[in-house]
Order: sequence, then structure tokens, then C-alpha cells
Amino acid sequence: MKRPEKREVLIFQKIDELYDFLIKRWKEISGKAIKERGIFTVALSGGETPVEFYQRLSDSKNSFPWGRTHIFLADERFVPFDEPDSNYGMIKEALLRHIGIPAENIHSVHIYKTPEISAKRYEEEIKTFFRLKEDKFPQFDLIILGIGEEGHTASLFPGDSALLETHRLTAAVHLDNERHERVTLTLPVINHTRNIIFLVLGENKAEIIREVLENHQSNLPASRVRTENGRLFFLLDKAASLLLSEKNSALKK
Ligand code: 6PG
Repeated sequence: MKRPEKREVLIFQKIDELYDFLIKRWKEISGKAIKERGIFTVALSGGETPVEFYQRLSDSKNSFPWGRTHIFLADERFVPFDEPDSNYGMIKEALLRHIGIPAENIHSVHIYKTPEISAKRYEEEIKTFFRLKEDKFPQFDLIILGIGEEGHTASLFPGDSALLETHRLTAAVHLDNERHERVTLTLPVINHTRNIIFLVLGENKAEIIREVLENHQSNLPASRVRTENGRLFFLLDKAASLLLSEKNSALKK
């Protein structure tokens, strides 16, 4: 029997309402996590789309328990932190440097000699932090994901071997047509997360959003993000939802 789709697609007519919703969800998820486990663990993506969200999150009007928040990266480009393409660099600029979060609560992907070494060290850091036994996956409370126009998410790209990883927590990624090598969390780690939120904005994402949400045979990386026991949200602006069928675009906020 086909498993029922467990995902919530929300289309926002006004961008401010989308950010307000996302900040409210962050608050609820972090509040629940801290109440139940004492800490809140979140993995953040890079790229252009989330920059404004991170800036709004850092607004002093929003008081979050940063001392109990642990920030990880969903993926990283293999470049030094001070280069413009560094995901950590972007997240630091938009969020971290404004919020007074303790340095030990930031778990970035360090750049060592090769992406393989960086991926291995990042995996070790996650295993130590979550006190994981062999063959166990961590359960982040939240991951914020984006989608590339060809269907990649985090740094899991169509056709790349990192997508096939079933045991490791992280993978090194080498692609001929991408500017940088990368390090990424693997699909099983993403799929074990308690709350998965895709944030997808702009008309250039309308085609891929239709493919991911409406082609049930799609094997693209973003289509393979699933949740068994958690929640999976797609937060879209009007432009990204333009090509969705009426059934999906009816799910408006
Ligand atoms: C990265 C990201 C990546 C991103 C998508 C969408 O390092 O590039 O983590 O997975 O989410 O590429 O990127 P944009 O938001 O820039 O379109």
C-alpha cells in the first residue's frame, strides 16, 4: 500500500506573513525541544533564499534562548569561511554575529585538506554531540532546506553518489558542473529530523516545485525527503507556487 504523503504545503500571498509563520514555528519547535530535552538543535542551509529569514531571526525584537540552541549546517561549500560563497560566512553575517550565541553552540563544517576529511570530522562532531551509538542517526529538531532549480537540496545533487548514502551521516560531494566541492548531511539524517521545512521563493523555482510536489514518480533529491514520525513543510511564496495544480494551490495561508 502506498504510504500517505505526510507534508504540509503552505503558499503565502504576502512574504511578511511567510516570515512571521516561520519565526512562529521556530519558536514553537525550539520551545518544545527545550522543554523536553533541554536543548534545541537546528541545521541551516545556505544559498540566497534564507538570508532574509536569518536576518529577521536575528532582529532584537525576537528573543530566543540562544544559549540552549545548537546550530549545525545542512551543507557547506568547500571554501574558506571568509569567502563570499561560504554558507557559514553567510549565516554568521546574517544571524550569528547579532545574537550573542555561545561559540560552542555553533557546529560548522571546518575546511581541512580535502572535502572527505571535512565530512569525516563533521560526522565525528555530530556523533559526539548526540552521543550516538554505532549505526544510529541523530534527530535534529529542525532543518531548514532550500531547493535548487534542478532538484538538489542541501548538497545532495541528482545522480551524485552522496544521494545513495545509507549509513554515513555526512558525505563529500564533487561535481563537474558546480563551482565548489561540498560537504553535506546525508538523506537518512535529513529524513530523521523532527521538523523539516523547505523554504522556496521565486518564479525560477515554480517548475521544480511542481515536479517535486506533483510528480509522485520523481526521484530527485528534494522529492526523496520524507518523514516517518515528524512534520514536513513546504513554505512557498506565490511566485514559486505558480505552476501548481488547483489542489495544491488551494492550500493557501
Ligand atoms: C547551498 C544550499 C543549497 C540551497 C539551494 C537553493 O549551499 O547552495 O544549501 O542546497 O538551499 O541551492 O539555493 P538558493 O536559495 O540560492 O536558490
